[in-house]
Amino acid sequence: MKKFPAGFYFGAATSSHQVEGNCDNDWSRWEKKNAERLAAEYVSNKSGLSDPFYEAGSNPENYISGNSVDHYSRFEEDFTHAEKIGLNSYRFSIEWSRIEPADGKWDEKEIEHYIKVIKTLRKKNIEPFITIWHWPLPVWLADDGGIMNPRFADYFSRYASKLAESFGKDVSFYITINEPEIYSLNSYMLGKWTPQKKGVLNYYRAIKVLIRAHNAAYKKIKEKNASASAGPACNMTYFESGGGVINNILVRIAAYLWNMFFISRVKRHSDFIGINYYFHNRIRYGLNKNDNEKVSDMGWELYPAGISYILDKIKKLNLPVYITENGLADENDLHRGWLLTETLKAVYKSIENGIDVRGYFHWSLLDNFEWDKGFWPKFGLISVDRRTMKRTLRGSADVYRNIIKRGLDI
Ligand code: BGC
Repeated sequence: MKKFPAGFYFGAATSSHQVEGNCDNDWSRWEKKNAERLAAEYVSNKSGLSDPFYEAGSNPENYISGNSVDHYSRFEEDFTHAEKIGLNSYRFSIEWSRIEPADGKWDEKEIEHYIKVIKTLRKKNIEPFITIWHWPLPVWLADDGGIMNPRFADYFSRYASKLAESFGKDVSFYITINEPEIYSLNSYMLGKWTPQKKGVLNYYRAIKVLIRAHNAAYKKIKEKNASASAGPACNMTYFESGGGVINNILVRIAAYLWNMFFISRVKRHSDFIGINYYFHNRIRYGLNKNDNEKVSDMGWELYPAGISYILDKIKKLNLPVYITENGLADENDLHRGWLLTETLKAVYKSIENGIDVRGYFHWSLLDNFEWDKGFWPKFGLISVDRRTMKRTLRGSADVYRNIIKRGLDI
């Protein structure tokens, strides 16, 4: 059995809007307006009969986060489960709209809430990894241009500074922005998510804003807590060439634009790189030609080996790495144990090859609200029955526990 280096962080991740319940932000507003449309789109894309998610996917209620899985009030119970799995770290996000419900007005009670969350983790020897922003915006800011407000970097870094000051020495790890690429793509290029802007130019503008926001927040965090580490969580894809010169060139362009553009502009203001790994694209003349031997409930190809390629590529940046997300929608837990094991094997080998990977966070600790797909995709190591809010560990949580305890059989 091979054990990971001492001090390696084995964790799981969530985000506030997806698990807490009762958020009042631009997303919660958008969901209510768009639920009927999203349900109708689901119906028009599916044949119905053989689809196990049809009932949920065709119901507008599925698309409204509502009380979600009530992690806001059940966090202690959830951490007891995390402890049972053997996790020594937990990545979660702070809900900006709770902390700053109006421009420059801090809600001290909500800050106290998160301090309690952090202290509860600490008591259980679970290291908190705080995501400062995992996409939803306070309504006042969304109504004033959102990330396109010329002062966005100031607002964001002021908020980051407030968190670093309030949490003090209890927090050593900050993830500034979650997946700037995915947010910019869906909200500013494809027009899928609020505020539904479209166009390549908008994507570029959004990414530039987020680069500035990250760099400004990094400086503020360090001013308040010089010993804390901060970095972004980037979505990185394994682009593989389908063969031939043209595909090789396309792969290089895609890998540069998607994987390297953001990180190379913030690396001087980052103590680590967070990588969220989900996707493999075998490129053949612009099309995605994967084998799809195994797929998740959302139809995403499961390709754990691809993470080695990404880790190899980012070695040159010379920064410690955390896998800040990796997981799948898998209600019946058919592939989760396999995906976890194979991904961790690849990570282990990368460490042996000299890449400084310091942690792995499975997405997700709990079943949760999967953005414009709503509740039907089940990402949790722990399943949640939303009628009773009962938590049940899936079998793959045992697989994870064994790896953490005993190591990997390689
Ligand atoms: C996001 C999560 C999301 C997960 C699965 C990542 O892109 O950070 O919020 O739930 O992927 O889609």
